[in-house]
Order: sequence, then structure tokens, then C-alpha cells
Amino acid sequence: MEKFDLLVIGGGPGGYSAAIAAGKAGLKVALFEADRLGGTCLNVGCIPTKYLVDKAKTMEKVRALVKSGIFRDPGSFSFREIVKGKDGAVEKLVSGVSTLLKRAGVRVVKGLAELGADRVVRCGGEEYTGENVIIATGSEPVWIPIPGKELCIDSTGVLSLESLPESMTVIGGGVIGLEIACAFAAFGTEVTVVEMLPALMAREQKEAVRYLLMQIKKLGVNVKTDAKMLRVEADGAYKKAVYEFKGREESVRCEQVLMAVGRKPRLTGIDVKALGLETDRKGCIVTDDRQRTCVPGVYAIGDAAGGPQLAHEAYAEGEAALASILGKEFSRPKYVPACTYTIPCFASVGLTTEAAAEKGFEPVMGSFSYAANGMALAEDAGGFVYVVADKATTKTIGVTIVGEGASELIAFGAMAVEHELTLGEWESMIVAHPTLSEMVKEAALDAFGKAVHKA
Ligand code: NAI
Repeated sequence: MEKFDLLVIGGGPGGYSAAIAAGKAGLKVALFEADRLGGTCLNVGCIPTKYLVDKAKTMEKVRALVKSGIFRDPGSFSFREIVKGKDGAVEKLVSGVSTLLKRAGVRVVKGLAELGADRVVRCGGEEYTGENVIIATGSEPVWIPIPGKELCIDSTGVLSLESLPESMTVIGGGVIGLEIACAFAAFGTEVTVVEMLPALMAREQKEAVRYLLMQIKKLGVNVKTDAKMLRVEADGAYKKAVYEFKGREESVRCEQVLMAVGRKPRLTGIDVKALGLETDRKGCIVTDDRQRTCVPGVYAIGDAAGGPQLAHEAYAEGEAALASILGKEFSRPKYVPACTYTIPCFASVGLTTEAAAEKGFEPVMGSFSYAANGMALAEDAGGFVYVVADKATTKTIGVTIVGEGASELIAFGAMAVEHELTLGEWESMIVAHPTLSEMVKEAALDAFGKAVHKA
């Protein structure tokens, strides 16, 4: 039986990054992966979706240029080539991760790892022991038990479509549902989103959500809220998705039905009971803020450990676990930025005005429109930036951006909320011109009536 300092189960963003960092720190590390390195994010999640969204956004941009008379016609496109490009981007990243692991001296073991009560990892007929074990087994889609669910596809299925469906119904208006709805609507698919809650993105800054929904509807997505999916029936080569809306049954005929109603932890191979691991009501492994489980030497990170199901959160949790293993100080960031790659993009970090008031702040909100920014005008981009600050201290407590570049601009917001930038600190900073970033500073100044380019 070979002995290691650290055994990492799962090669997604949380697992592979922790393994690389541990290898670089001089630990003897083995990483177990049942499928492909990169996990959901690289193979069937973030990266392939972003490839599709990027091409869809480009098409929308071309259409706008046709409308304004700059382009004569929108041309045509090949969905097959988009799929090829998406697969190519995924391959490049997966092979990059494999190289990084090799260079960090990490032993990669292919196969389903099993972790039992003795804390020994068994994989492919071999046994491995480790001073420490990190469980980073990720999550999988939830399937609601409606009649006809076998006629639906999940996010993995939609990302493996080889031809463009003429119509699609999306069950669930969450992050996956909205990103896929926008991309496919821009490709020309007729999309209906069926969401059971009365509002979409209910915990986000309301003004920004209102703008996003307007844009999503302009793309042609039919959004039904307060609507519960009841069943899916076969209808020749099509499907009939039946849902309840205002007490009545309504249906939509479509080629594909996407089930996007959340994800649950995947703990295949982990004998949670025998190990004595504690789990919460969603089945996620319970840890402290250093990712320690109740079993000494066993850590859990990423979607398997609950919290925000985001790759960058998994990276941060891997760093926390490794700091515990190495006995190093680790200061956990207070806020996690989140981006939804709709068209346009939506990104936020920190507190909304509502959440800030609940926490006892006296929030003031500044805003800035893309319509008043030179770079946004040059790029024909619309949208808004909102910055929430505390009136008494002038500290920045929340940033929400909806519009082109939101997912990049939010890094600026994350820095501002994490380090509680005050009005004076915003004023003492030069932001290059012409850039979209200028809007973040302007919105921060506007919270105190000091924006320059706003009447
Ligand atoms: P989600 O939790 O974001 O949304 C699921 C939605 O389905 C909810 O709004 C829920 O009310 C609705 N729903 C549930 N049952 C329903 C029913 N019977 N009928 C109609 N609606 C129903 O989950 P989603 O979109 O599947 O995403 C899973 C996770 O993946 C999220 O936590 C997200 O953070 C992560 N993710 C992150 C991305 C990013 O960072 N850009 C991209 C994609 C996913």
C-alpha cells in the first residue's frame, strides 16, 4: 500500500487546484478522477457554456449592426462549427490541467475512488493511504420526479446537442436555465422558461434584475414565472411540456425540454456513514471554515461541501483546506462574486440595498448607466452599474453590474467590498479613460451625489 501526504478525490476545479498547490508545496499527492480532469466546470459546465454564450453574443451584436445599417446582412452560421470550437476549447483546458498536475508532481489515478471507514482509498484494485484526504467529488443535476422526465435532457445533454433545436422549454429559471435560454434564443431557438417561483433572481438588486429581464424578453425568450411544470408528453418528433399557470394547465410544444432545477452533492464512493461524516439536509458534507470535517484529517471542498456552487468558491475552499493541512494562516474572504452569463451578463458581489438594511447598515445606492459612458457608447453596449455604500462610514458594501463586461468589471467590485473602500479612497483612484471601469467609480461616487458625468 503506497503512502501519500494527501489524497484528493475528484479532479474538478476544487480538487485539481488543491492538488497542484499541495504538490508545489512539496507534499506527495495523489488525485483520483473517475471521468475527465476538469470536472463539471471544464467539461460540461462553465467553459462549454461560455463558448456558446460568446458566439451567441456575437450574433446579437451583428444583428444590432444590421439594424443600425452598418452591416448589410447578418450572414449565416454553422452550429456544427460552434460545437467543434466548444469541444476544442474544452480539450485545450483539460490537457492544460493534466500538464499542470504532472509538473506539480501529482500522481493522477484514473478510476472511481472509494473511501471507507479505515480512511484508505481504493481505486482500480490498488490501495492508497494518506495523512490527509480532501473530498472534492462535486455535484450532479437534480431531476424532479415528473411524469415524462425521461424525455428531458439535463445541462450535460444540452451541451452535447449536435444540431440546433428549433424550440426548447427550460424547466427552472435559475443560473443554468437563463444562460442556456439566452444563448439558444440568440441562435434562433424558440425558448420558453418555466419557473415555479414568482420572481427570477429574487435575491439580487431589483433594478438590475428588471433591466436584465427586459433584455432577455427582447431576445425573444418567453419567461413564465409562478408556473409549475407538471409533466412532459411525447408528441410525435416533439414534446409537449405541460405546466400549471394561474390555476390553469398550459402547454408548449417543443423539440427539447431542459431540466435545470438545481444540483445536488455527488458522494459516490464515499462511505459517509461508515466514516462518520456529518451531512446537512441537502446531503452536503458539513465542514468548518477551514474545510475540516468532523473526522480528523478528512476535508471536504466545493459542491460536495455545500455553499455557493461556484468554481471560484471551490478554489478558495481548496486553499483553506491546504492551509489547514500545512498549518498556515488563512484569512477567508467575506464575499464571493457571482456571474450569470446571460445576454447581457449579470454580476454581483456583497450586499444589495435590501440585504444591507436587514444587516443594520444605512444603505445608500449610486448608479451609472452605460448610456453615459464613452466606451459603452463606442461598443454599442447597454446596461447599469449599482454600488451600495454605508451612509455613515461611506464604505462600499455591494456592487451589481448588468451589461457588457460585467463579469470582468465585478473583480473591481469584489476588491472594493472585500477591502471596504470608502468614498475618499474611490476619489483618490484614477481609472483609465475610455473604459467601462469608469462606470464603477462613477456609481460609487454617485452614492454620495458626487458622480462627475451625471446631472
Ligand atoms: P438554480 O438553483 O440556480 O436554479 C434552479 C431553478 O429551478 C430555481 O429558480 C427553482 O425555483 C426552479 N425550479 C425548481 N423546481 C422547479 C419546478 N418543478 N418547476 C419550475 N421551476 C423549478 O440551479 P441551476 O440553474 O440548475 O444551477 C445549479 C448551480 O450551478 C447553481 O447553484 C449555480 O450557482 C451553478 N452554476 C453557476 C454558473 C455560473 O457561475 N455562471 C453557471 C451555471 C451553474
